[in-house]
Amino acid sequence: MKNKFLLILISLFFLSACSGDENETADTLETPIAIGPKDVNDSGFKAKWYYVSHSKSYLLDVSTNENFTTFLPNYNSKEVTDLNDVVVGLTGGTQYYYRVRAKNETQISDYSNVISVVTTGSSNIPEDPTFLKVKANKLANPFFVGMAVKASQLTTGSGYDIILKNEFSSISAEYEMKMNPISTASGVYNWAAADKIVAYGNANGINVHGHALVWHNAVPQWLKDFSGTDAEFALEVKKYITDVVTHYAGKVKSWDVVNEAADDNGGAMRNTIFLQRMGPNYIKDCFQWARNAANAAGDTSLLLFYNDYATSTNIPKQDRVFSIVDDLKASNLINGLGFQMHNTYLSPTKAQIETDINRAVAKGLKIHISELDIQVNQFNDISTFTNERRLAQKEKYKEIVKLYNAIPAANKYALTVWGMKDNESWIPYSTELNHVGNDWPLLYDANFTIKSSHTGFLEGLD
Ligand code: GLA
Repeated sequence: MKNKFLLILISLFFLSACSGDENETADTLETPIAIGPKDVNDSGFKAKWYYVSHSKSYLLDVSTNENFTTFLPNYNSKEVTDLNDVVVGLTGGTQYYYRVRAKNETQISDYSNVISVVTTGSSNIPEDPTFLKVKANKLANPFFVGMAVKASQLTTGSGYDIILKNEFSSISAEYEMKMNPISTASGVYNWAAADKIVAYGNANGINVHGHALVWHNAVPQWLKDFSGTDAEFALEVKKYITDVVTHYAGKVKSWDVVNEAADDNGGAMRNTIFLQRMGPNYIKDCFQWARNAANAAGDTSLLLFYNDYATSTNIPKQDRVFSIVDDLKASNLINGLGFQMHNTYLSPTKAQIETDINRAVAKGLKIHISELDIQVNQFNDISTFTNERRLAQKEKYKEIVKLYNAIPAANKYALTVWGMKDNESWIPYSTELNHVGNDWPLLYDANFTIKSSHTGFLEGLD
């Protein structure tokens, strides 16, 4: 009698264990995300992609045409068990494309995005050790080298396009992924420019950082004028965050969820329309909505950042930012912290930056130096770019790159420069910064020629 009862119990256990397995394999496999290649050389490269849960292997396709109407011999659904594969036997200076599907015993996923790669050699965009991302990718603990872009710059063959593909491994939209260009009315979106930026990154193996979901300086007029209740206002913000995160799920690796919520004075919260209408919990709500939307869209690895400026020199503001961070961390909602770093050749000091960044390291956050530029004429005391300022700026770029490169691998994410050419930077004549004169804050001059600051960046990677 006792034995019979035991037998029934055991069979019940097996039955439920088996039915659990069935449920697991019945889930459809997620579509994998292919990422930019590594170790590109004259005759090959390493194709890479992210892990898909429940997959046992991946099917890799490599082709010389974007539509995969033909395949390279041996690379038509080549089965690979790792998250990368070294593709060999290629021709120098040639454009190749790759994509993958995830596989387990019973299922095959949809195709990933397509990554384009040009082998070195006779190519007109060779891999050169003096290119920023080439050098950064060879570090023991590499990180993305980012650039702020506008959709209008992304025409194939333009100066921006060539430099971006050669030197940068991440992009952030300078304006076009903010709320006011995207949201034209409640639930009505203009995706054109933002889609172009994201597609450019995805097609060229360049990481895309989303900037920024909620920022007091990018509130569309219709939302400023919103006449509903505060609760209805909050629902509009929720809807916006949900729709945007969903639209770009799997295409954008990270988002600045809230930008600049700390005030410059006394470590207070900035008195924005969001604080006024949604109350002090608004930051947490926004992060929660972003996380929920990403998870619902199947993107469980989206990185959520809080982004702010001038925290290294303004300690009450720094403290406020870290109290925002602690609050978000307590609810497990934040992955990283963005330090804008609109710096000058004099400030902040190395020690000030290190103290600020080390606080974030201690909290286990990913760190994004998210909007780096280094002014040399903040007092409007020079009318041409002098040799002395050129060298001072070079040293400052070197200093920040070096200190970023020294942080632990787990805290690294990206170091993004806020614009390509000096003559197009937001800095000169900025009323926001009270910057009345000309300036030369970036890595390239008006003719796309590299400056000493670029050499400083490279030296920082030594
Ligand atoms: C802030 C924002 C950026 C950008 C700059 C000015 O730093 O975070 O998006 O608007 O101002 O270019």
